[in-house]
Amino acid sequence: MAKQAAGIAACDFVSSGMDVGLGTGSTVKYTVIELGRRMVEEGLKIRGVPTSIETEKLAKSLKIPLLEWHEVDTLAVTIDGADEFDSAFHLIKGGGGALTREKIVAQVSDAMVIVTDPRKDVGTLGKFPLPVEVIQFGWEVTSRHLADLCPSTVSRRGGDSPFVTDNGNFIIDCQFGATITEPVTMEANIRGIAGVVEVGLFTHMADAVIIGSTAGTEVRMKPNGRLS
Ligand code: 5RP
Repeated sequence: MAKQAAGIAACDFVSSGMDVGLGTGSTVKYTVIELGRRMVEEGLKIRGVPTSIETEKLAKSLKIPLLEWHEVDTLAVTIDGADEFDSAFHLIKGGGGALTREKIVAQVSDAMVIVTDPRKDVGTLGKFPLPVEVIQFGWEVTSRHLADLCPSTVSRRGGDSPFVTDNGNFIIDCQFGATITEPVTMEANIRGIAGVVEVGLFTHMADAVIIGSTAGTEVRMKPNGRLS
């Protein structure tokens, strides 16, 4: 299975003694499970920082020791999924709604490894609706400011039964279509709107992308990235 192959392959970036950021989603879930297995069966010793309550529960069930934030200096690597990636290793993330915690964890990491499948490899970012986490206060107005930047629909995830993030906020999904040709600028512009907590554009963060498929896994290293 493609996701499992990618998730397991990412564990090769982890060695004993590392503090590791543990991402969120159906692909990186296999990384966390494999890390737990290697701890029990192969003596791997790591400590983790989860990017969501869901991943925290999984890691705890596998008895992976977790760090409190006051114990975190830097993390050796974060392994996480993505909804899209481009040839410059820029990402759209947040399909699971965990983008803010994911970015905080990635930001404190010395490297970021992404586990994906071939469907997420795009020429231009934006076909996947761009998730933006916003505080509940004034979210309708914040959405209107997002609509000024977005060529098509913006909508609150979950509609009248809104999805609420682990941080108590809403997600606004922005249908850009494959138009985000300047992701660094777009990330900054969206973050400049009051009420926005974080945007699912992750630019200049990923150092390697692992693409799982039924034919095996492909590892793409970012040229001059932190792992090259
Ligand atoms: C969660 C994320 C996920 O990493 C992303 O949505 C990919 O998930 P999956 O591996 O299930 O396709 O950003 O907020």
